Amino acid sequence: MEQTFVMVKPDGVQRNVVGEIVSRFEKKGYTLAGAKLMTISNELAEKHYGEHKDKPFFGELVDFITSGPVFAMVWEGENVIASARQMMGATNPSDAAPGTIRGDFAVQVGMNIIHGSDSSESAEREIGLFFEKSELQSYTKTI
Ligand code: CMP
Repeated sequence: MEQTFVMVKPDGVQRNVVGEIVSRFEKKGYTLAGAKLMTISNELAEKHYGEHKDKPFFGELVDFITSGPVFAMVWEGENVIASARQMMGATNPSDAAPGTIRGDFAVQVGMNIIHGSDSSESAEREIGLFFEKSELQSYTKTI
C-alpha cells in the first residue's frame, strides 16, 4: 500500500494543531503507520531539504525546521501521496484554498505548518530519513 511522509512543522506544533491535522488524515480514511515528536538536527534538515540547497531561503528553511519539535508521521492508503498534498493545499498559504490545512491555518510561505512528500521517490527517501523500519507498523483494520 502507498505510504507518504507528513510532518507538522514547529509552527504547527506550537500552535496546537497536531491533533487537528492527525484528525483530518484519520477522518479521510488513511492509516497511521508511524509517528513521533522530535527535534531535527541540522544534518537531517540539510539532507531532507537537499533539493533546495541553492535557493536563497535555504538557510532560513533549515533554521526554522530545527527551531523546535516537529511531529513526523507516515500515512498509508490509496493515492495517499497526491491526496495528502491536496489536503495540505498550495505551498504558499496565501494561495491555499480554504478547507485545506495551509488555507485554514497559515499565512506565510516560510511558516506553512506542514510538509508532505511530493512524489513516490520523495516519500521513500523521506520516510527512510526520518524512520527506522522498526518504528513503522503494518496492520489490517479489523473494526
Ligand atoms: P515544504 O513543503 O516543507 O518544502 C520546502 C519549503 O520551503 C516549503 O514547504 C516552504 O515552507 C519553504 N519555502 C518555499 N519558498 C520559500 C520562500 N520564498 N521563503 C521561505 N521559505 C520558503
